[in-house]
Amino acid sequence: MADNKKKLLLAAARKARGKAYAPYSNFRVGAAVLGGNGRIYSGCNVENASFGLTCCAERNAVFAMVADGEKRLREVLVIGGNAGFLPPCGACRQVLAEFAMPTARVHMCDAKGTCRSTTLGELLPFIFHLHQRGK
Ligand code: THU
Repeated sequence: MADNKKKLLLAAARKARGKAYAPYSNFRVGAAVLGGNGRIYSGCNVENASFGLTCCAERNAVFAMVADGEKRLREVLVIGGNAGFLPPCGACRQVLAEFAMPTARVHMCDAKGTCRSTTLGELLPFIFHLHQRGK
């Protein structure tokens, strides 16, 4: 991906992180995904007093993309706190896999924007699929 696109993903994820609703964990997360249409969609974590209802930043970004009519996810960037780069949780990996190829790049960043990059297939081998893609 062009460096410029990664910068845009980082900026969008950072901005979303600023909107995180995380009063219980105080752990703010932002995510941005690049759709097949070239657009960037972002999300933040949204927590709930009933903790299990919390939704991660990555999933909220994916859902924003789908709500806009795009189902191809090219790339994702997630940004967390100061405790090092943030790998997506297992649930988010499965949700990403619904719309992204195993070759899709995943950038895992800390609050300073230092990122470690890998692929979805590396994070989630032997991906579970029920239906054909692209429907
Ligand atoms: N969180 C994310 O938003 N993404 C992840 O990949 C890991 C965890 C959020 C959920 C919760 O609001 C907080 O971080 C602490 O788990």
